Amino acid sequence: MRERLSMDRDWRFHLGDPVQAKESSHKAVYGLAKAGGIRGPAGMEWNDNEWDTVQLPHDWSYQQPLDRENGVPDFGYYPRGIGWYRKKFKLDPADQGKQLLLEFDGIATHAAVYFNGSILERNFCGYTSFTVDITDRAYFGDQPNLLVVKVDATVSEGWWYEGAGIYRHVWLTKTAPVHIAHRGIWVNPIRQEAGRWLTNVETTIRNETEAAVEYQLISRVEQADGNIVAEELASGSCAAGQSLAVTQDLPIEHPALWDVDAPHLYKLYSILVVNGEELDTAVTNYGYRTIRICPDTGFYLNDRPLKIKGTCNHQDHAGVGVALPDGIQEYRIRRLKEMGSNAYRCAHHNPAPELLDACDRLGMLVMNENRNFDSSREGLRQLENMVTRDRNHPSVVFYSLFNEEPLQGTPIGRKMVKRMIRAVKKLDPTRPILGAMHGGVMEDEGAADVTDIVGFNYMNGGYDKFREKHPNQPIIGSETVSAFSTRGNYISDDSRQIFDSYDREKASWGNSVRESWKTINTRDFVMGTFVWTGFDYRGEPTPYEWPSVSTHFGIMDTCGFAKDSYYLYQAFWRDEPVLHIVGHWNWPGREGRQVKIMAHTNCDEVALYLNDVLIDRQPIDIYEQYEWDVVYEPGTLRMEGYKGGQLVKAAEIQTADEAHTVRVETQKLALSGDGRDAMAVNVYAVDGQGRFVPTEQCKMSFSIKGSGVILGVGNGDPNCHEPDYAAERSLFNGCCQLIVQSKVVEEDIVLTIEGDGLQPASHVIPVQPVEELPFVPSVDERYINNWLITQEIAAERPDPNVMIHPTDMNSWEMVDVSFGALQMLRGASGYVTYRNQAPISDVEKSGRPYLWFHSISGDIEIYVDGRLQLRQFLPWPENLEVPLLGAELKDQITISVLIGITSDMYSPGIQGSVSIRTK
Ligand code: GAL
Repeated sequence: MRERLSMDRDWRFHLGDPVQAKESSHKAVYGLAKAGGIRGPAGMEWNDNEWDTVQLPHDWSYQQPLDRENGVPDFGYYPRGIGWYRKKFKLDPADQGKQLLLEFDGIATHAAVYFNGSILERNFCGYTSFTVDITDRAYFGDQPNLLVVKVDATVSEGWWYEGAGIYRHVWLTKTAPVHIAHRGIWVNPIRQEAGRWLTNVETTIRNETEAAVEYQLISRVEQADGNIVAEELASGSCAAGQSLAVTQDLPIEHPALWDVDAPHLYKLYSILVVNGEELDTAVTNYGYRTIRICPDTGFYLNDRPLKIKGTCNHQDHAGVGVALPDGIQEYRIRRLKEMGSNAYRCAHHNPAPELLDACDRLGMLVMNENRNFDSSREGLRQLENMVTRDRNHPSVVFYSLFNEEPLQGTPIGRKMVKRMIRAVKKLDPTRPILGAMHGGVMEDEGAADVTDIVGFNYMNGGYDKFREKHPNQPIIGSETVSAFSTRGNYISDDSRQIFDSYDREKASWGNSVRESWKTINTRDFVMGTFVWTGFDYRGEPTPYEWPSVSTHFGIMDTCGFAKDSYYLYQAFWRDEPVLHIVGHWNWPGREGRQVKIMAHTNCDEVALYLNDVLIDRQPIDIYEQYEWDVVYEPGTLRMEGYKGGQLVKAAEIQTADEAHTVRVETQKLALSGDGRDAMAVNVYAVDGQGRFVPTEQCKMSFSIKGSGVILGVGNGDPNCHEPDYAAERSLFNGCCQLIVQSKVVEEDIVLTIEGDGLQPASHVIPVQPVEELPFVPSVDERYINNWLITQEIAAERPDPNVMIHPTDMNSWEMVDVSFGALQMLRGASGYVTYRNQAPISDVEKSGRPYLWFHSISGDIEIYVDGRLQLRQFLPWPENLEVPLLGAELKDQITISVLIGITSDMYSPGIQGSVSIRTK
């Protein structure tokens, strides 16, 4: 049966390229060229005991200090570089014969994957998921497997913070030789007449055996309450070594539709039976929904016109870089939903699978974007990878092929786009395809009219002209706005590189929130908007450079704290009354001077009171909003919002006293005690009466007791240079955030928060018992493999320490001792010599190192660098401990094992793995 195990735990990590001795002898070069022959940090013998131990997802970039001198503003001045990861793990002997597939969800940026001494895969896009089949190369039982990933993040693909390392999950899937292929299920529900649907399912069966098999495939649909609502059986024969696509149509009546407000999901169980045995079961989440686009009236979901109210986002978050725990993906999508957003553009790359899961669960439409505009074989591979990975997600409704490409308006761009469209449609003809263009839309020989939709990035003065020319080509604002604001700040100050929050600061190519939404919302033929951006992100600190290290574009900051425009979008996008006061009321020293105050509201009239005195009452044009200059006096500023003359909403801000302590708000009530669950913990400065203090900037420090760890911290200040990988942080305009993750123990977390001059606060986060996700543990032992053995059995006792000539590849043979006894030694008499070379670290030298033979037999003499270490006669295979004389060891030792054998011995020789251990 199928098993899917997490490979996230306990990797050894080294930042940079480890220094390795150059081996240039013929023997070394010859050996390196062989399968399994890799040496150095990708090889079994390499000593990683002094490397760090890290957990995935892991991003090393944001954990490094900012580097103004060598750093790139686009990457937020974080160093990138090269990193190595190693994980040694054992497989159960019962796994022999299974198919073993590693899945890497995402590595930034170029990755080389080595397994047991061979390079098995290279991946060239930091945003695509890829697999590595290790079936042929795996060891079972005592001999551990070695998985090594070299990550080269000196290469970049974007102009934003991309992170560095294995920053998404890794999985190991074990299946029977006859199984459902990886990504072998495509569910495509098709609506029929009168509430009837056909659930079209294509299942690819893979037969890795050497004989044809008769299979039965059961596809079973379960609705959310576990009831089975459809089931079909298909049977047939799958030829040896072949894949077979089986198509089934499962009828279902009146399914609960997947919609943005009610995202109903169904589960498809695909059960593969061969000879009466259930060999594989795969589960796929999917939904029933229709999508349609119209050049005149835009986007339809389930036949309902739906204006796309979307945001563009990169993937990093405060405290964790791009290595987001699943809980933080969920947090971000929830924050956007609360704003009234219904769509998410994965700018400019494929997202983590868990982000799409969150969008499926929470009802968020997705524009899934391809990273590289490239119609070459590699480019198409990356594009197809997006489609086959993501086409079962009901949330995914658009595929975007590119973003702002210089070739977009040219005949070359047109040809590339056509080829790329063909590749996508072959795999999924159901989703409209677009390119996000920032020019070239009016060119006859460009890409604009060969895509299903034309994406306009900015250029919103061009919608009408384009429509005149192409009345049948649907339009979407694939990227809009690019306004600047700094959370909680109300005075733009160029010298401090901060912006006010009155919706008037914007990039020269951008628009204010109000202008942009008015242009789009008053045109039915514009399908909707994707605002740049939902969240601030590291890098691209436009229009500034250092000391700004992250953007000013976000509707929320890097932590997900709302800037004022968040409420403007709520006013535009939500139905219930929204009334928000833009500004704060803590201006000591400004008494008697004017302070700008603004309303963000969808009410049609607003009354403004200062200390219970009516100052003004104004009708509100939703696209204009309203602002006042109010003479400051401490106290309470209150707004009342009216609709049709009725008071429907009130809001107030108060002058706070000095900060006294903090208020803590957690993303959810408890964490699951699985060592993976994580949440955002938001910290707000409050005065003695519990009022928020919007001007407090003091340094906070955090400590944690119980089953949790602090993964990182942030405060949303685009100019802050304090480390995120820390347990302390300054408040920025009253707020900061910690990301807390559970451990696999069920003990509540007690978080203590202290700030300079503040009353400490503590907060309890309950940790709930849950079943731990099955995972593959790492082993730490250092194994030496790839022994040389003399080809001939010598009749006379040879010199065990004889020098092997560097050009001699043929009088010694390489053997993998972990496979057990060598047949050639059975029944023979004489002497064989084994030889190996292994590095020894300083830690090992200063401990009490010894060699550990898991199984060895014969008349044994063991030498290290020519010195006899142990002599022993073992008539039967046994394990053997051989102490090494620590102080005299060199960095690299030569081990010689001479074994005298006689024909009556049952099984002489080294016949199990050998490791170096310390006491
Ligand atoms: C766009 C681009 C985005 C971002 C944005 C900033 O041109 O697609 O990635 O750079 O500008 O305004």
